[in-house]
Amino acid sequence: MKNRTLLTLISFFFLFSCSKKEVKKDFIEDLISKMTLQEKAGQLNLIPTTGFNKTDSVHLWIKKGLVGHVQKSIGVKNNYELQKIAVENSRLGIPLLFQEDIIHGYKTIAPVPLAEASSWDLAAIRKSAAIAAREASSAGIHLTFAPMVDIARDPRWGRILEGAGEDVYLGSLIAAARVKGFQESNKENSNILATVKHFVGYGASLAGRDYNILDFSERELRETHLPPFKAAIDAGVSSVMTAYSAYDGVPLVANNFLLKDVLRDELKFKGLVMTDWETVGNLVKTGIAKNDTIATKMSLLAGNDIDMSTKKYVNLLPEMVRKGIISEAVLDNSVRNVLLLKQKAGLFKDPYAYFNEEREAKELLSEENIQATKEMAVKSMVLLKNKNNVLPLLKKKQRIAIIGPFAKAQKDLLGWWSSQGNPNDVVSIFAGIKKRVPQTSTISYAQGCIVEDFEIKGVEMIADAVRAANNADVIVLALGEKEWMSGEGGGTASLLLPGAQQQLLDAVAKTGKPIITLIVSGRPYVLTDVVKKSTAVLQVWMPGTTGGTAVAEILFGDYNPSGKLTVTFPFHQGQVPIYYNYKKTSHSFNAGPKNNRYTTTHRDITSDPLFPFGFGLSYNSYSYKNLKLDKTTMNKNDSIKVSVDVTNKGKYNGREIVQLYIHDKVCSVTRPVKELKDFLSLELKPNETKTATFYITSDKLRFIGLDYKTTIEEGAFEVFVGKNSSDTSKLDFWLE
Ligand code: BGC
Repeated sequence: MKNRTLLTLISFFFLFSCSKKEVKKDFIEDLISKMTLQEKAGQLNLIPTTGFNKTDSVHLWIKKGLVGHVQKSIGVKNNYELQKIAVENSRLGIPLLFQEDIIHGYKTIAPVPLAEASSWDLAAIRKSAAIAAREASSAGIHLTFAPMVDIARDPRWGRILEGAGEDVYLGSLIAAARVKGFQESNKENSNILATVKHFVGYGASLAGRDYNILDFSERELRETHLPPFKAAIDAGVSSVMTAYSAYDGVPLVANNFLLKDVLRDELKFKGLVMTDWETVGNLVKTGIAKNDTIATKMSLLAGNDIDMSTKKYVNLLPEMVRKGIISEAVLDNSVRNVLLLKQKAGLFKDPYAYFNEEREAKELLSEENIQATKEMAVKSMVLLKNKNNVLPLLKKKQRIAIIGPFAKAQKDLLGWWSSQGNPNDVVSIFAGIKKRVPQTSTISYAQGCIVEDFEIKGVEMIADAVRAANNADVIVLALGEKEWMSGEGGGTASLLLPGAQQQLLDAVAKTGKPIITLIVSGRPYVLTDVVKKSTAVLQVWMPGTTGGTAVAEILFGDYNPSGKLTVTFPFHQGQVPIYYNYKKTSHSFNAGPKNNRYTTTHRDITSDPLFPFGFGLSYNSYSYKNLKLDKTTMNKNDSIKVSVDVTNKGKYNGREIVQLYIHDKVCSVTRPVKELKDFLSLELKPNETKTATFYITSDKLRFIGLDYKTTIEEGAFEVFVGKNSSDTSKLDFWLE
């Protein structure tokens, strides 16, 4: 391949007669001036290789210059072949940009993004994105459709697993970390362009049904949904994908207010905008456009440069320009954005830079990638209960029964967006424990029931599981959901574990043996009964390729769990949506149902969640003492120093995530009862005390004012510091 590459490179450079070292901007203008209308529309066309009946027609389309970008084409060999056609056989030889959903890994699959967020470790999250970029770029991919930064507060929505959780502040920091991880690299050709999605508000889909309607105010838009996009843009994200949803009645793909006034003018986004899958056509389906021509016009005019998968731009735009339905200048503008993106990807310097089979073979599933992914996985698991310190399992000699439909699962540990992740490469929970367990202990296994859909299946298998439990000293019970049950299109009405898992839990619990329950899921389940019947509960999420190894390291105490939830775990399904930073209402929320009729609490259940935002245990306990402010009044140019002493009261080294929340007591608009505004991680040895120090600066007190602009108001505030959003100490301060 190397010699051929060299030849094509020479001809390519000859064609454009531009220097290898420097590609000037007028190169792009020059190129645009040479393009036919058809070739221009072709550059706006992103197609999956699956979008054709015969494989040779992809080739034909590329030859004719009708394709600008390819999706769902896997591996160097395939992508090289298509690139060669574009470069050597199309009239202008414009290289293709290969795009793909690299959400949490390409071949080495990291924990799902919601799990990674639970690490609160921005450096680790960034590194994880960088590993995904290294692998994807080695496999011939230039751009990923990630990060998804939609704030989600309804665990019924399957895509909750793809984001960072419910919090705007943390979500924004993670958005920036992931963009930088994908895009920045100190090794040549090892990064990919990032796409922040779905602009904007898609996470608010009603009832957790995917692609559903949603409705929120401009205030909610600006307070909750826009900030992570701003953070991604400020971090230099290359492209933006528009959402399927509508805002204030206007689908995002045709929403001039959001795509122009907000995205371009306010957020100053300079890069490329692309539609989501088939969204141009959706304008007709939703009755916004009466035909495809109008849909295409609306989408292009609103600023969507690339049309994903519908071929409407490429099929319709040339004629529309000829007929004067759309001006060529508008088309040129989008073509320019595309070519600039290709330039940013280095395609005009070397269209084959990402196609090196040797590198691909070396990079995918490399030892270094596996190791880093495992480190991410242990940090992302959240210990929810640990009665009598049943964990870690320290006894050298014990009988362990590993039970449950997810004990030997491999595919389900990868999650819905697992790109080229191969289930056979995944270390199952059973395999991880088997490898790590002391030789003097024994393990047994029983599947317990079958989870293949939502039906109750395999109840007859429970007897075997009970037998295994009775013959064991401790039970590891792996429960959860199938990988297809969450992710895109994975909305569920129920948040109770599917199938016969409840029956299995009930039967195993009756043995009276200690149960360590592991939850494999991409969303919070209602674990109220699971927690009641288990001695310990570890939320392992969908932990990726090294999942089983990571679980074993935690169970046997090689790693002391430190993850904390970035999404509230409901006590009851009827509480959903439930999140920590709700706004103050006139009537009390947590007065308790029995005490007072006139509250905003449900009459039949507690107002508390099962586990609040920020919650997570460790094998240690940590005490927080001496919360202090260096002063209680500040002005806008000033800051207040907040400090608290945190002591490790346990026997193990540990990492504690210390959280700071603020509440604006009097404000012209209703404010959340608490908002995360800072956090830090302390590494603490047994008996060690460290002081966590934060600074309250005026940017932490800003909010969206009555005029929808960011503002700040003098007055009284409260600062809370603690282990999670519920367990905090509070002090008052004043902004003058
Ligand atoms: C999803 C996007 C994804 C795209 C391409 C769509 O259905 O909403 O998030 O990037 O498909 O696979």
